[in-house]
Amino acid sequence: MAISILGISGSLRSSSSNTALLRACAAIAPADVKITVYEGLDKLPYFSPELDGEGSSPADTVLSLRNKLRAADAVLFSTPEYAFGIPGVLKNALDWLVSSGEFTHKPTGVISASPLATGGDKAHASLVQTLSVMTADIQEESKLIIPIVRTKMDANGNITDPELERSLRTLITYLATKSANGGRH
Ligand SMILES: Cc1cc2nc3c(=O)[nH]c(=O)nc-3n(C[C@H](O)[C@H](O)[C@H](O)COP(=O)(O)O)c2cc1C
Repeated sequence: MAISILGISGSLRSSSSNTALLRACAAIAPADVKITVYEGLDKLPYFSPELDGEGSSPADTVLSLRNKLRAADAVLFSTPEYAFGIPGVLKNALDWLVSSGEFTHKPTGVISASPLATGGDKAHASLVQTLSVMTADIQEESKLIIPIVRTKMDANGNITDPELERSLRTLITYLATKSANGGRH
């Protein structure tokens, strides 16, 4: 049976390199691995516990994200770094997921990409920390920091750096294998 991976980009930019990376992952994934890129980050309401179970049901957009996560065998994030942290829209989405449990033991890949030499390493560490608190299954093999990303992709979002393509293939295969083995590698 095919393995499904939900890709979540931390960037809303139409020409985002992080979103392009996830689309490139979908294109290079093995035939039995389907990567779908989630597109509703900007449709989620601002999180407040009052909107989540304290007398009211969360918005349909929130329920839809939770359903997509529940249905996915694995999740793959790719995020930019804004002022040494993860973008607010991404943190807002994660706040909606803290108590709902979709990440429990879910094989999860974490990529950060930046035009700078640091590759967004501080956002990467922050995202790993938040997802780990939510008990996502994140191992060394599921982490990738991509420095100077704009030299590694063309204007159409295709990967031009063979080493980057190899790293992405390795990451996808790791997540797929882990999912197929019920979380064990
Ligand atoms: C408000 C703002 C803050 C930023 N802060 C950082 C930063 O702390 N570290 C970094 O590596 N890049 C930073 N950048 C540059 C982003 O890495 C760059 O815009 C990148 O292309 C965003 O990712 P995207 O192409 O997926 O949208 C910042 C950009 C903006 C607009």
